Amino acid sequence: MSLTTCTIHTVQRADRSVYVSNDLVKALRLTGSKTITLKAGSKSITAPLRLIRKAGQHLYIPLSMIGKLHLPRIGSTLATSSSAKEIRLGPMIGILTNMTDSPTSPFGPKTGFIRQVMQTGADKSFHFAFSPRDVNWQQETVRGVFLSPGGGWVRKTVPLPDVVYNRLSSRIAERSSGMEGFKERFGRKGIPLFNWSFFDKWDVYNLLEGDDAFKFVPESRINPSADQIREMLDKHKFIYLKPTAGSLGIGIFRITYNANRGYFARYRKGNKNVLIRYAKFASLMNMLGTGRGRLQNYVAQQGIRLIEIDSCPIDFRFHMTKNGANQWVVAAIGAKKAGKGSVTTHLRTGGQLMTSEQVLRQIYGARAEQILQNAKETAIKLAEGIENNYHHLLGELGFDIGIDQNEKIWMFEANAKPGRSIFKHPSLKDQDKASLAYVYEHCLYLSRFRKRREA
Ligand SMILES: Nc1ncnc2c1ncn2[C@@H]1O[C@H](COP(=O)(O)OP(=O)(O)O)[C@@H](O)[C@H]1O
Ligand SMILES: [Mg+2]
Repeated sequence: MSLTTCTIHTVQRADRSVYVSNDLVKALRLTGSKTITLKAGSKSITAPLRLIRKAGQHLYIPLSMIGKLHLPRIGSTLATSSSAKEIRLGPMIGILTNMTDSPTSPFGPKTGFIRQVMQTGADKSFHFAFSPRDVNWQQETVRGVFLSPGGGWVRKTVPLPDVVYNRLSSRIAERSSGMEGFKERFGRKGIPLFNWSFFDKWDVYNLLEGDDAFKFVPESRINPSADQIREMLDKHKFIYLKPTAGSLGIGIFRITYNANRGYFARYRKGNKNVLIRYAKFASLMNMLGTGRGRLQNYVAQQGIRLIEIDSCPIDFRFHMTKNGANQWVVAAIGAKKAGKGSVTTHLRTGGQLMTSEQVLRQIYGARAEQILQNAKETAIKLAEGIENNYHHLLGELGFDIGIDQNEKIWMFEANAKPGRSIFKHPSLKDQDKASLAYVYEHCLYLSRFRKRREA
């Protein structure tokens, strides 16, 4: 396989040939071929090949063929070839997401993020966003939304992409009928789609059970009965109760047991943190509605005594991505300090964003680097463990990671469509960029626009 960049131009000539510069012929090893098949996403077209003397790597394509290929623009792009008769242009990277009707903010609060994704590698690839209803399977085309050079958004009809980056942002949209089948259709056409769907907390626990990395996950029970809750409280002294499909800390209870004083429930009510004591276990169960099925779809999880600053627990978001060599990397780490009295570290409940360096140096001094290194290695083992037991492609994961007071590393939650709130921290600008670059390079890997070292 050969891989290079080239500049696409249009040409208007009666002979309907594709003109290729000498340098490009050499770079793609097309020497001697009389015809050429150009491919862009799912479309291809074959034409006579003619050489043109011009320095640099150039490709001249008749206007009518640009239309048939549905090339979204001319100019620079990657070009790869696996035989002397073929050039693949692209890649076409399709970002699957939900859209609004707003012309200036077509992806709602995700608009800024989608823009960043599209700008990464924009000078050598074709990026567009689309929603399920934009795909025409008969024609094998997509009505994609492109970022125009002026910064606005434009619709263009393009081929099916070479790779799909799934950023559908709602669990409801992801679960709607037909969505599973829709995503599978890409697979049947040989188009890789990564980040298949959201994880439930319980899915991740299940995926890791039996894996070496299982020891990093706190003990958990799905749909816990009163007996199981009592047992876990006896064993661990405090537990978390979390909706398995929840996020943002919504619906979470922290339950503590003290042999002399009874049971304490801490949770968020409206915009306040509440703490209620129950002398009897039965009253606690009554409040939680255990007997009435209110803890259906909840996970009970062993509580972890997190490291603290100013008596506020701290945890970390590890933003994991795959890179161009198909390996997991820790692209970014943010530290989050819980708001006073809050059971979680979310910013919306008073949490504060910090850098991991700040936190670890304050707590561990000279040993900070060693602890960070250990946490990174653990996060990579966890990502590999999840991936090995999962039947779809993953390109990104957001781990909520805790370090306990004995320096042990724990993972509370793995997000398959990680949010990007840690990147609001001004010190994380480079990591923000790096995370986007890794995802882009992983798109190149999946679409075979990058040399692979076969195992
Ligand atoms: N088992 C636990 N022990 C200690 N703290 C926990 C535990 N589970 C969750 N937390 C705290 O609550 C936060 C939110 O929990 P998480 O499982 O990430 O749920 P959500 O989906 O709502 O973000 C975590 O980031 C962590 O600070
Ligand atoms: Mg979380």
